[in-house]
Amino acid sequence: VKQVDLLGRLRDLVGGDALLTTADDKSPFLVDHRHLFHGAALAVVQPASTDEVSRLLALCNGVGIGVVPQGGNTGYCGGATPDASGRQIVLSLRRMDRIRSVDAANFSLVAEAGCTLAAVQAAADDAQRLFPLSLGSEGSCQIGGNLATNAGGTAVLRYGMMRDLALGIEVVLADGSVISALSPLRKDNTGYDFKGLMIGSEGTLGIITAACLKLFPQPRSVATAWISVPDPAAAIAVLGRLRDASADRVASCELVPQSALDLVLAQMPGARSPGTTPAPWYLLIELTSSGNDDLDPLLESALAGAIEAGDALDAAIARSGEQRDDFWRLRESIPESQRRAGGSLKHDISVAVAAVPALIERGARLAADLVPEGFLVAYGHAGDGNLHFNVNQRPGTDPVTFRSREPALQRAIHDLVATMGGSFSAEHGIGQLKVGELERYAQPAELAAMRAIKQALDPNGILNPGKVLRGSAL
Ligand code: FAD
Ligand code: MLT
Ligand code: ZN
Repeated sequence: VKQVDLLGRLRDLVGGDALLTTADDKSPFLVDHRHLFHGAALAVVQPASTDEVSRLLALCNGVGIGVVPQGGNTGYCGGATPDASGRQIVLSLRRMDRIRSVDAANFSLVAEAGCTLAAVQAAADDAQRLFPLSLGSEGSCQIGGNLATNAGGTAVLRYGMMRDLALGIEVVLADGSVISALSPLRKDNTGYDFKGLMIGSEGTLGIITAACLKLFPQPRSVATAWISVPDPAAAIAVLGRLRDASADRVASCELVPQSALDLVLAQMPGARSPGTTPAPWYLLIELTSSGNDDLDPLLESALAGAIEAGDALDAAIARSGEQRDDFWRLRESIPESQRRAGGSLKHDISVAVAAVPALIERGARLAADLVPEGFLVAYGHAGDGNLHFNVNQRPGTDPVTFRSREPALQRAIHDLVATMGGSFSAEHGIGQLKVGELERYAQPAELAAMRAIKQALDPNGILNPGKVLRGSAL
């Protein structure tokens, strides 16, 4: 089909307002939030219903047009950015933003893919329930994007990743057929697990249009501590002690190095120091319970034990909601403060929790050797073994030399992680950024199975071409 005919058919399908074709209108959809990936597109289409998505895919499949789904565009791997050909279309889910139903008795709700994570959390809250996924980007990322990337975040230790939080899913396949599996069943062993396959597939196997999500009782009691620790091994010991002492009520355990705290205090207006003894490392730990428990004394006595054992140096327990929010703001502001400080060489890696100290020690040595212009800012979800092992540029050093270190550092860190039985992409996915890394580190049989699945479900290769797996240009 000629471009004009295709645009006309897309316009007929979604309506003129939902089809963006001018350079100005399209531009926000053609670059990722870090401005690392730039693309072009024939058009940005914003369907309002599953039926429109279905007809749109049937059309694109018929004429061989690549479709790049986009949610809140907060991803880190360029997965939502089209290629440079200008032949692909971006399918934005932003108009599909209805909460279809909330079932408090069943602890579930059904949300369309374009609902922001914050809107889903609010809908759960209105029903006196909790939707526990929690990310720094929650105001703008969408539930479809969270599912497509199998997002993690700060509550994985207690509640798991997105794959653990979905009961059902509605997906449109490449040919436009719809799998509607939104039932809230907790047990259903009838055939292959499509939901599990679609979650984490980054738009390469289907377009997620809605999901039935798992809700939980709301926490009634919360206790939060900012803890100074001498080293990562002590941090992991403190986590173990608190899990034991609290009957496993630790919901979050985030590791923050002094280098990250310094960046946040320097870059973020209004950031307040936690006031504990300065230390090379800190832990932000939160205990929650759905009962009316007094968690503060429990946390205090467990921390006193940790201080006596030498695993903790000092700790501050949040005495108000405001102080709790301050602690969390320090943690959540790390990525933005790193960006403001000039950007960083990023790695999103995981190992078994007990191996986190060894990973940091060995990784720090590699970073110091390979990037003399950098300093380490390794922080993150230590409670589940996931670190954002980033290296920032030292002020006054040459930015081009600093950037040129990236390939060698990445290779060394990812090889290290592989030898430690870990993952080179713990929670941010593959997108276009890590396609080569997947080829390097996945088992050949695994890669072959992935390619076979892709071929079976998307034989014309129209769904997010070139993402996750190398593909023919569409
Ligand atoms: P997008 O960026 O729009 O898309 C991501 C991928 O999903 C792309 O491949 C896209 O094609 C595909 N996709 C999007 N919607 C659909 C759909 N409906 N159907 C099929 N495919 C689709 N991530 C974490 O896991 N943990 C964190 O702690 C975390 N913290 C963050 C903090 C900040 C400040 C920022 C900016 C990002 C953070 N992220 C984190 C990364 C990001 O927010 C998540 O990966 C999020 O899940 C992406 O959602 P999105 O809607 O923005 O997706
Ligand atoms: C986080 O946990 O803060 C993010 O996943 C990492 C990042 O934004 O770089
Ligand atoms: Zn993270």
